[in-house]
Amino acid sequence: MNAGFIGLGIMGQPMARHLRRAGFPLTVYTRTAAKAEPLLAAGAQWAGAPAAVAAASDVIITMLPDTPDVETVLFGPQGVATGLRAGKIVIDMSTIAPAATVAFAQRLREQECEMLDAPVSGGESGAIAGTLTIMVGGDEQIFNKCLPLFQALGQNIVHLGTNGNGQRTKLVNQIICALNILAMSEGLHLAEILGLEREKVLPVVASGAAGSWMLQHLAPRILQNDFQPGFMIKLQQKDLRLAQEVIAQFGAEFPGTALTYALFTKAVEMGLGEQGTQGLINLFKKSHQL
Ligand SMILES: NC(=O)c1ccc[n+]([C@@H]2O[C@H](COP(=O)([O-])OP(=O)(O)OC[C@H]3O[C@@H](n4cnc5c(N)ncnc54)[C@H](OP(=O)(O)O)[C@@H]3O)[C@@H](O)[C@H]2O)c1
Repeated sequence: MNAGFIGLGIMGQPMARHLRRAGFPLTVYTRTAAKAEPLLAAGAQWAGAPAAVAAASDVIITMLPDTPDVETVLFGPQGVATGLRAGKIVIDMSTIAPAATVAFAQRLREQECEMLDAPVSGGESGAIAGTLTIMVGGDEQIFNKCLPLFQALGQNIVHLGTNGNGQRTKLVNQIICALNILAMSEGLHLAEILGLEREKVLPVVASGAAGSWMLQHLAPRILQNDFQPGFMIKLQQKDLRLAQEVIAQFGAEFPGTALTYALFTKAVEMGLGEQGTQGLINLFKKSHQL
């Protein structure tokens, strides 16, 4: 099975590397060509545009920031859709709006091609380790056909039903993650205000009922003043916006999500958008009026 990969960012680079290591012939494209160099050295082929990736591949994977990026790569000039032939499969592993993914799948079906939405969880470290959780929406037979690709990237790979259900599940994941990040930030900020030794506080609270993925992976970075992105604040803010849009369709009240979205938006406005999500704590340091 020839694989194509578009979007070689924090997640896409290590994911594409796993596909090569698993032996899939691989064609890649990303906006900043230099980012493809390590993959080309590992035997991947460069394509000059998304259409060329589609022409060379049976399955085309996209890992891009947001809904408009996926739309441009799929349907823009020199987009994937212009290079497709009937029977090819598109897998979008970005986190985007569920309604858009359903519409994209419909447009591709008109070209006799199938699409899966397959967003992931596990962060940069999960992508590097090849241990991502993968939440898949779309036709079950197509899912089964693509399973060997997914198995090269992750460990917990679940088919959740029709197109859009992967993205819907990812939004559930993201509101839980974001509220956890807020909880971690406030907890560590309180420890600091109280004059506690955070190096001692962290292992104690992480080993009790407050323990979480965030405390395990992100809190140590806060203590080291390391705000490099594994997952950028602006992308977490984007995910909360997507969740808010879906919630609004049901007229439901999600006060924690609304508050967390407002705080991540404030962090973006304060110029923290390119920090990792652990940088949310800097919001409290820079402003005590929240
Ligand atoms: N980071 C995480 O921990 C994490 C975890 C789970 C899910 N996600 C989701 O995964 C997706 C990617 O996240 P990321 O952290 O990898 O973001 P990222 O580092 O910003 O990577 C996105 C990549 O897409 C490329 N790109 C953007 N527009 C493009 C276009 N029109 N054509 C070709 N390439 C384009 C970017 O361009 P360049 O080549 O110019 O850099 C970049 O390499 C997002 O939807 C995010 O929400 C991220």
